[in-house]
Amino acid sequence: MWKQFSLVFFVVFGCYMGVNSNPQPLKHLTNELEVHVPASTVWEIYRNLGLLKLAVQQNLIQSVRVLKGHGGVGTVVNVTFLPGNSSYTEKFTVIDDQKRMKVTQGLKGDCLAIGCSVQIIQFDITEKSDNSSVIKSEIAYAVKKGFEAKNPKPSIQLVAALAQLVKNFLENKNHA
Ligand SMILES: *[C@@H]1O[C@H](CO)[C@@H](O)[C@H](O)[C@H]1NC(C)=O
Ligand SMILES: *[C@@H]1O[C@H](CO)[C@@H](O)[C@H](O)[C@H]1NC(C)=O
Ligand SMILES: *[C@@H]1O[C@H](CO)[C@@H](O)[C@H](O)[C@H]1NC(C)=O
Repeated sequence: MWKQFSLVFFVVFGCYMGVNSNPQPLKHLTNELEVHVPASTVWEIYRNLGLLKLAVQQNLIQSVRVLKGHGGVGTVVNVTFLPGNSSYTEKFTVIDDQKRMKVTQGLKGDCLAIGCSVQIIQFDITEKSDNSSVIKSEIAYAVKKGFEAKNPKPSIQLVAALAQLVKNFLENKNHA
């Protein structure tokens, strides 16, 4: 009886290890942009739904539908892009006001629709001086088995465009 149990345990444990010793490697795409406004001002836009609302208002994206929550951790949003109306659903998983760091987990769409198994976007707003900060946008993703040859990639251009939009908006607002 005991011997059987330990055999079962070994097999289960062995499978578990087998899965985890061979994870799909995460790839990274990064964009950095310096903004001449304080980090706290940039963070106010990035930390909740402000970023996506600004992007809709400025016609960078077609629409945002909040499927769950109010902008805090656990919020789920469906974003529709221009042109072509492709879409992406993501969940806000980390909002760290101390580090000024936000992480979102892709649930559906964008690269997940064309061969990625994982898509995680992380924003870090770093203070450079009293009046200047850096927006770092990083996308981590993994490609599903069988899709390697197609080399699917999430759109770093879109998160770079979001950062540029925030920069233009805040810098012009400051000088107005
Ligand atoms: C995208 O959606 C908008 C609003 O529903 C629509 O007017 C537009 O024709 C759509 N564009 C494409 C390329 O399908
Ligand atoms: C987002 O919402 C649109 C409109 O309801 C829907 O057609 C689309 O499938 C959704 N996209 C994702 C990735 O969930
Ligand atoms: C930051 O900007 C304010 C207002 O424009 C200015 O008075 C101040 O000297 C600037 N500080 C630095 C460190 O550049």
